[in-house]
Amino acid sequence: MKKGRAFFISSLFLPVRLSPLKMTTAMLENAHPLWEQFRQELQSVSSLGQWTQLRDRYLSRQRGLITLEVKKLGRLSAEERPSAGQRLNVLKVQVEKALENHYQLLKEQERFRQLQSERIDVTLPGYYPRRGRIHPLRRIQREMEEIFMRMGFQVALGPELEWDYYNFEALNMPPGHPARDTQDTLYITENLLLRTHTSPVQIRTMQQQPPPVRIVVPGKVFRRDAVDATHSPMFHQMEGLVVDAGITFADLKGTLEAFLKELFSPQTRVRFQPSYFPFVEPGAEVVISCIFCSGTGCRVCKQNGWIEVMGAGMVHPKVLQKVGYDPETYTGFAWGMGIDRIAMLKYQIDDLRIFFENDVRFLSQF
Ligand code: PHE
Repeated sequence: MKKGRAFFISSLFLPVRLSPLKMTTAMLENAHPLWEQFRQELQSVSSLGQWTQLRDRYLSRQRGLITLEVKKLGRLSAEERPSAGQRLNVLKVQVEKALENHYQLLKEQERFRQLQSERIDVTLPGYYPRRGRIHPLRRIQREMEEIFMRMGFQVALGPELEWDYYNFEALNMPPGHPARDTQDTLYITENLLLRTHTSPVQIRTMQQQPPPVRIVVPGKVFRRDAVDATHSPMFHQMEGLVVDAGITFADLKGTLEAFLKELFSPQTRVRFQPSYFPFVEPGAEVVISCIFCSGTGCRVCKQNGWIEVMGAGMVHPKVLQKVGYDPETYTGFAWGMGIDRIAMLKYQIDDLRIFFENDVRFLSQF
């Protein structure tokens, strides 16, 4: 900002009292010659330092110009002395008053200068903090949880570090069972491992409560896999388990079909193909019509028209027995699906790795 304008604003907004001393004609005629001299000098005082100098120059108790004049009074005759004395008194009062006014002016100017230098332009746009976002995997997980919660499911969680017993044995995979080999397990000790699926939480939940059970279990799972576009040693699953008296395969079909239609679209077709998992009987592989080409064949479904989305089945009687549920009274179904895979499909992502690279350019799109 230019100086001239600053001063303009200052004189506009600050109560600057230059106080022209009201002087009567008599006073002017009678004015002491020092008055005019003082006024001249006062005009060039533009700092508090100069102001102090000028004050002392006129009013100092020892050598002030006015003080010296007062001392000279003694040399005057008795007739001259009263009027000369009065003239000096008037001068002194005028000088003090002018000094005081000028002091206020300098103070106000200084304050204005300070305000100017600390001036903040409140019309400038502020710095926005970068807003965090929900990770796409977490987002889809919540969406899935919400659909199941609306159906009456509860969310259950279990440990990522798991006993062999829960991960395999209680799920009808005793030591030496060939299905163990297909899981590429990461062992910590002989009995302790990183869970290869979320199914052990089926066992933990059933051990803790009697039927009915209606849970979904989201979480991390681990497998000894090399990283590529569709594999990662850590990925996410969502397990589901329903156990009650009179649960049938029709319940399994109805539940999963309703879920998949809600997650993808009402047009999605759902198919159940025979499959094998030791902890279910019968077991199924759930496939949906390709959500990109609706089944006509494209790159995503590898020209197949169908995409596999989960494994499922009726809970094996041996599993129910292991947790103390009577398989004659209770039946149930379970499923397990890859959250990462569902997210890849829903968000059309063709490389699993970008979920774990934490590149904000990717993450900020969700
Ligand atoms: N746990 C199985 C897997 O990880 C999936 C599954 C869960 C299959 C429940 C059937 C029932 O492959």
